Amino acid sequence: MKKVLVAVVALILLAVGGIAVKFYALSPVARPAPDVHAPTSPEAIARGDYLANHITGCTTCHSPIDDTVPGDVFIASRIGAGRDFGSEEFPGTVRAPNLTPDKETGIGNRTDGEILRAMREGIAHDGHVMFPMMPYTSYANLSDEDALDIIAYVRTFKPIKNDPGPTKIDFPVSMFIRAVPKPVEKSPPPEPTEPVARGLWIMANASCAECHDTIDDKHQPIPGKHLAGGQHFTFSKGVVYAPNLTSDKATGIGAYTDEELMRVFQEGIGKDGRPLWVMPWAALKGQTEEDKRAVIAALRTIPPVTNQVPHSQMH
Ligand code: HEC
Ligand code: HEC
Repeated sequence: MKKVLVAVVALILLAVGGIAVKFYALSPVARPAPDVHAPTSPEAIARGDYLANHITGCTTCHSPIDDTVPGDVFIASRIGAGRDFGSEEFPGTVRAPNLTPDKETGIGNRTDGEILRAMREGIAHDGHVMFPMMPYTSYANLSDEDALDIIAYVRTFKPIKNDPGPTKIDFPVSMFIRAVPKPVEKSPPPEPTEPVARGLWIMANASCAECHDTIDDKHQPIPGKHLAGGQHFTFSKGVVYAPNLTSDKATGIGAYTDEELMRVFQEGIGKDGRPLWVMPWAALKGQTEEDKRAVIAALRTIPPVTNQVPHSQMH
């Protein structure tokens, strides 16, 4: 009996050791930063500006925020200087680094290939595996052209000396994220143009699901509850809940008119007439009307899920 027990314990130890080796020695799947060069033409910079500010949200996450106004509005004069997300909502402390060309605290000394690899493959310049709140798993679907145009635009920020500090993720999450990065060897397809496909592409790049998916206590999306809402966000004005975006008529947005949804993206006013604070509508507002309509068309295709989300409490 004792021998069996010893054997079982030894097997378990081996398995645990094996898993630890898998995550720490064999992972992450990474490659050297590719040898690429971002364009410098005004057209490329303008495309990158549109994508970075209104579709992919780079500037919202990587700039300090003015939290006295609703809509996650960043301080324009500090564009790209980095943002401290703190530790309240995360398994660790999360800080989006400085993306300005400052050589010491920003990306002035990074190659375009290092930035491209960070964006789409999740490996930072120093080789560390990034916390996937930096949405590299979504950006993995950005075409080479889109990704390089974004870099072209980011290179136009004015240098600002500011170090928000490193991101530090606690064990065991720090171990599990090592399995997330994947190289992007060949260019993903260009942006879709058909409205529903384009709307879904925008939603993937704008991380709607990061906030609007229903999650479990380990912060993982619950299968079958895609975009069904319920995550809470605590900030200076109180606590807000991300609404259910599925087409359920009673608890989702199934009964909202297109114009009510348009008002959300255009003016940041919810269906109940109240301003939206955490929802990053200030960034989405700059989308073309066609793109906003594409997002609305895409939202209409989300299968209904009944999930009553609590009312936000603001003081
Ligand atoms: C939801 C917030 C968020 C968005 C949106 C976002 N980032 Fe990040 N980014 C982060 C965080 C947080 C980190 C640090 C992650 C870590 O080190 O674990 C990061 C890291 C980076 C790095 C790594 C720098 C290094 O150390 O090598 C680059 C480059 C970067 N982001 C560029 C971008 C670009 C370009 C976009 C838009 C296409 C973007 N980010 C969008 C949050 C974000
Ligand atoms: C950073 C988290 C976050 C992201 C990213 C985000 N949202 Fe939201 N959204 C919220 C929260 C929280 C609310 C409600 C409360 C508030 O903002 O004050 C909200 C509200 C809304 C509403 C208003 C519904 C109502 O009842 O009036 C709609 C529609 C919406 N979001 C759609 C989207 C879409 C589409 C995207 C992606 C393009 C998106 N959101 C991205 C957090 C987010």
